[in-house]
Amino acid sequence: MSTSQSFIMSVSLAGTGHAVPEKSFPNTDFEKTLDTSDAWIVQRTGIRERRFAEIHETTSSYAARAAKKALDASGLTPEQIGMVVVATTTPDMRIPATANIVQNELGLVNAYSYDIVAACSGFVFAMVAANAHIRSGLTSSALVIASDLYSSILDFEDRNTAVLFGDGAGAAVLAKQEKSEWAPDGRPSGVVAVSLNTDATRWDNLTCLGGGTAGRKTLSSAQPGFVRMDGRDVFKQAVQACEARIRDVLDASGCKPEHIACLIPHQANIRIIEKVAQNVGYPLERMAINLDRYGNMAAASIPVALDEAVRNGRVGPGDLILLVAAGAGFSSAAMLLRV
Ligand SMILES: CC(C)(COP(=O)(O)OP(=O)(O)OC[C@H]1O[C@@H](n2cnc3c(N)ncnc32)[C@H](O)[C@@H]1OP(=O)(O)O)[C@@H](O)C(=O)NCCC(=O)NCCS
Repeated sequence: MSTSQSFIMSVSLAGTGHAVPEKSFPNTDFEKTLDTSDAWIVQRTGIRERRFAEIHETTSSYAARAAKKALDASGLTPEQIGMVVVATTTPDMRIPATANIVQNELGLVNAYSYDIVAACSGFVFAMVAANAHIRSGLTSSALVIASDLYSSILDFEDRNTAVLFGDGAGAAVLAKQEKSEWAPDGRPSGVVAVSLNTDATRWDNLTCLGGGTAGRKTLSSAQPGFVRMDGRDVFKQAVQACEARIRDVLDASGCKPEHIACLIPHQANIRIIEKVAQNVGYPLERMAINLDRYGNMAAASIPVALDEAVRNGRVGPGDLILLVAAGAGFSSAAMLLRV
């Protein structure tokens, strides 16, 4: 069962931003230490390079940089932000929430803040939460951030996972939109429909024991908890779940694939994206794809692609866009919104 909903729209996308590390690592770098090749990685995943943060950099530092850009783009002041939510599975520390650190860094003195753990679906789960908080009247604006530095939990001796991930952060500002601000055609911008799902029977196909109670007896400092994944199972789950979430929001909204100007999927593997495109009848060339340059940035992949699409003019006012993600949990999420 999934939970989907259609809204009378009044929560709009006011601004976006992203931040990625400077240093890029091509596939050929892995050829030096792993039994792998550039050709295998490109053919099986579509990834050509990824960026990794420096050891002194943190998830919150990238989150704050992405959030500052989104805030600037929104035209809102720091004092106007009422909620900060950070989607991450690589927090700065166990306590407090990374969102608390970002809130302080940006001087968001009138906000409350917390983190969301929903792995690669985290940004869309966080957007859904912010949308609900704004609609309920708890706040009128929210900074929704996804930031993940998977370089901190990768086993660089494991070719099954090391080549897949990269570091980065993306952010969006959601804000309550008054009816007087709606477009002349009477159609409000913002969130149109959402769908969330978790198939918890598959929670163990993608895990990281590091820092958790389940690994206390088995992990040592020589064997810290790294990301472990049943790649084939995750691949199948991701295709099915993304397809289901897309169908949910199309059904809930009455929209058809041809109405969507740009579909922004999670960026795990180009073959997953191709299969989803084929299954739902959506042209691949209208999908935003950046995994060739960044790899899988976990929760951050979608908001980075969203900001790139906004800033390069690929999507503009009035366009319908669809965000769809799947990841550990096994969680999946979709959001249809009008820019
Ligand atoms: C991980 C993934 C790229 C593997 O691709 P695949 O085509 O499914 O490959 P398989 O798992 O069938 O493995 C085929 C072989 O390639 C090997 N292989 C895996 N990684 C490799 C690498 N980097 N270089 C070379 N060979 C590799 C495997 O060990 C396996 O060898 P074997 O047959 O001797 O056991 C793919 O399953 C995937 O993308 N899964 C989903 C990942 C994902 O979405 N993760 C994040 C969730 S949001």
